[in-house]
Amino acid sequence: MGSVAVVLVAAGSGTRMGTGLPKALVLLAGQPLLTRALATVARCPDVSLVVIVAPPSRLDEAGAAVSGAQVPAGLEVLVVPGGTSRGDSVAAGLAALPRQASIVLVHDAARALAPVSLFASVIEAVRAGHSAVIPGLPVVDTIKEVDAAGHVVSTPDRSSLRAIQTPQGFDREVLRRAHESSAGALVTDDAALVERMGIGVHVIAGDPLALKITTREDLVLAETMLERRPA
Ligand code: CTP
Ligand code: MG
Repeated sequence: MGSVAVVLVAAGSGTRMGTGLPKALVLLAGQPLLTRALATVARCPDVSLVVIVAPPSRLDEAGAAVSGAQVPAGLEVLVVPGGTSRGDSVAAGLAALPRQASIVLVHDAARALAPVSLFASVIEAVRAGHSAVIPGLPVVDTIKEVDAAGHVVSTPDRSSLRAIQTPQGFDREVLRRAHESSAGALVTDDAALVERMGIGVHVIAGDPLALKITTREDLVLAETMLERRPA
């Protein structure tokens, strides 16, 4: 079986959180989001390498956040500087991958509570033959497409919609080609680049714990979820 690498993107500025700190370094119940996300990756037995993509001006603090996670000796951890957009940061992480990684998971440090079980499900689905695997949850709100003037353009059938999370798992070669062919494209996830190549993307059940912590309200919600999470 091929080895699994995780690209953990943590180079965002956290503008919507508004703390003045890169979001991955913001504390959730006393620990940086990056530390929490890495600690979970470190508990995934299939993962042999993690590339942490950190804010270029905060590499020292990112290194300290890495030291705060309990990383076993068998797990290699690299820290590389990120780029201006999330896509640039993922590309920087992919560039640092060693040759032997055959499955790559891309994960947002902002989804700091995504559990080990979700990583395992994604890896299992890639190993089962899906070259791109993404977790998704049914959408609870009605979603409308709206134009610049604020007029509703359409109302897609909610039952066919999913809110997509990370980790997203890929056959390494497929992800490499997707990034190569769509460099600089403005997309918010890596699967969209694979879709553009006409390659099928497989959706598995997401997990409410994998919420993206974006605002201060999300941080409060995440703290509550953490308190209530079974040990
Ligand atoms: N990310 C990154 N490099 C960037 C932008 C984002 O590595 N240039 C990462 C973030 O660190 C985060 C994930 O991509 O883990 C999802 O991004 P988002 O939630 O938008 O985080 P931020 O960009 O930090 O937040 P904001 O957009 O509010 O500034
Ligand atoms: Mg952002």
